[in-house]
Amino acid sequence: MALAKAYVFDAYGTLFDVHSAVAHHRDAIGPKADAISDLWRTKQLEYTWTRTLMGAWLDFRALTAMALDFAAAKHGGLPAGLRENLLAAYETLDAFADVAPTLAALKAAGVKTAILSNGTRDMLANAVASAGIGQWLDACLSIDEIRAFKTTPAAYELVERHLGAAPSEVSFQSSNRWDIAGAVAFGFRGVWINRTGQPDEYMDLPPARVLPGLGGLLADHD
Ligand code: LAC
Repeated sequence: MALAKAYVFDAYGTLFDVHSAVAHHRDAIGPKADAISDLWRTKQLEYTWTRTLMGAWLDFRALTAMALDFAAAKHGGLPAGLRENLLAAYETLDAFADVAPTLAALKAAGVKTAILSNGTRDMLANAVASAGIGQWLDACLSIDEIRAFKTTPAAYELVERHLGAAPSEVSFQSSNRWDIAGAVAFGFRGVWINRTGQPDEYMDLPPARVLPGLGGLLADHD
C-alpha cells in the first residue's frame, strides 16, 4: 500500500487517553471511578450527536462538563473540588505511548499530519502542548469552525480546506468506530485503531485496516 498524502487523527481516545483524567484521581473518587469515566465519555459523545441534530450547538468543553455532571450525579456525586480537578485534567490528558513515535515517523516520511477533532481549539492546543507533539503536526483542526460535530460530512471537509488533500488522499485514524464509519462514508481511507478490542459494527462502512494501536500504521507501506 502506498503512503497517503495526509494522515489525519481523531484526538480523544485515539491520541489522548480519555480515561486518564479519572485515573489520576482514582483514589479520591473511589470504587465508582471506572463507571463514572465510562458514563462521562458516553454522555459527552451523545451530547455531540443530539446537539448537532437539534442545531443547538455548545462547544465540546461545555458538553464535557455537562457529561461529567450527569455521570457524577448518576453515581452519587463527587467529593468537593473533584469536578474542577477532573475538568482541569481533561485539558492535559495523557497521550498514548505510540503517538509521538508514530507522528515523528510520518513526518520523517514526508507526509502531512493533522488532528481533526470535536475538541475546542483551546482544548486541543492544551492537549498537544502537554503531550509535546506539536512539532510533528501540520494542523490541528477543530470543528469549532463549523459548529457541528462529527459525523457530519462538513467536519471531514475541514481536512481538504486546510490541508489541500482530497478525501481519497487521506488516511484517517480513529479509535472510535462511529468516527471511522463517518470518515469512510465521506471517502477517507479509514484505519480503525481498536485499542480496546471492541467488536466490529457499521458493517456497511468498513475500515481499510484495523490495528490494535498506532504502532503498525507505517508497516506494509512501500
Ligand atoms: C474527537 C473525539 C470525539 O473528535 O474523539 O476527538
